[in-house]
Amino acid sequence: MRAKEDHHRFHHKVNMYITKKLFNNPTAYIILLLLSYALGYLSSPKPHTPPPPSRPRAGAGAGAGAATATSNSTIQLPPSLLDNFRVTTRCAADSVPPQLVRQTIIDRIFNGTSPYVNFPPPHISHLLRRRRIKGWGSYGAVFGNLIDKVRPRVIIEVGSFLGASALHMANLTRQLGLDSQILCIDDFRGWPGFRDKFKDIPMVNGNVLLYFQFLQNVIYQNAIDSVLPVPFSSGSALTKLCEWGVVGDLIEIDAGHDFNSAWADINRAWRILRPGGVIFGHDYFTAADNRGVRRAVNLFAKINGLKVQIDGQHWVIHSAVNA
Ligand SMILES: C[S@@+](CC[C@H](N)C(=O)[O-])C[C@H]1O[C@@H](n2cnc3c(N)ncnc32)[C@H](O)[C@@H]1O
Repeated sequence: MRAKEDHHRFHHKVNMYITKKLFNNPTAYIILLLLSYALGYLSSPKPHTPPPPSRPRAGAGAGAGAATATSNSTIQLPPSLLDNFRVTTRCAADSVPPQLVRQTIIDRIFNGTSPYVNFPPPHISHLLRRRRIKGWGSYGAVFGNLIDKVRPRVIIEVGSFLGASALHMANLTRQLGLDSQILCIDDFRGWPGFRDKFKDIPMVNGNVLLYFQFLQNVIYQNAIDSVLPVPFSSGSALTKLCEWGVVGDLIEIDAGHDFNSAWADINRAWRILRPGGVIFGHDYFTAADNRGVRRAVNLFAKINGLKVQIDGQHWVIHSAVNA
C-alpha cells in the first residue's frame, strides 16, 4: 500500500515537472497546441454526405432528380454531382382527377373566373386580329400519332406562343371524341427580340400582347372548353402543378431551346407525367446540334435509363416502355 502511494507521488512529481517545463517554453507550448488540434480534427465525425436522390418515377409525388441507377444502360454519378438535381418541391400524394383539372386551374390561377369571360377588354380589342397563328412544326404527324395512342385526358404543353400546336391538338382530340383538357404553360413574352419578326403583334407600354392574341385565337377556333392558358414561367408553373397534383397523360416541351431551359423543363415535367404517359418535344434536330435540346434530352434519358424515340423533328419518351 505504502509502495503504491510512493509510486503515485513519484508520477505526479514527474508530470508537474514536465508541465512546468512546457509552459515555460513557448515553442513546446505551440507544438502541444497544434498536436491537440490535429488529434481533435482527426477524431471528429466526418461531415454528413447526403444519400443520392431516388430514381424519378412518373406521376405526382415522384422522387425528384436523377439517380444512380443500376442497369448497364445508365451512368453512375458521384453523390456530389447528383446533389445538383435535388429539388425541395413536395408534390401532392394524390393526383387531381382529369375531370377536375380545368376547374382546379381556374380556381387556383384565375380566382374562379375563366380567362375567356368578358374577352376582349375594350382597351385591347381593336389591337387584336381575329386570328393570328404562327408555329414551328406545330402540325407534325407526332401529335396525331401520340394522341391516337395515349388518348390523353390531360395534355400539358410547355411553350404555346400563339397556340398553333395547342389548337392542332384540340382539333385532334375533338375528332377522336376525347374529352381532353390542354393546359398551355407560357409566360407569353416570346423571347428578347422576337418582335423583329412579329412586328404585327402589338405592344402596349412595352407589354407585348401575345397572351391576348392567344386567347383570341382559342376563341376564334371555338376551343375555349378544352384549352386553358397557364400564363407563368415554365419553372414556376410546373412546380405548382406538381404541388397541386395536376398531372398530364401527354406533355409537350417546346419553350426555351437552350440546354439549361430544356433540361429544367424536362426534369420538372417528368415529375407530373402520369405513369404510362408520354413526354415529347420539338427541335431535337437543330443548328444547336448537340448543345441545346438534344443534349438535354439525351442526358436525361441516359441518367434515367430511358429510351428516346424520334418522330420527325420531335423526340418522344414513353414512360410505359421504360417502366
Ligand atoms: C417555340 S414557341 C412555342 C411554339 C408552339 N409550341 C407552337 O408550336 O405553336 C416557344 C414559346 O415558349 C415560351 N417560353 C420560352 N421560355 C419560357 C419560359 N421559361 N417559361 C414560359 N414560357 C417560355 C415563349 O414565350 C414562346 O411562346
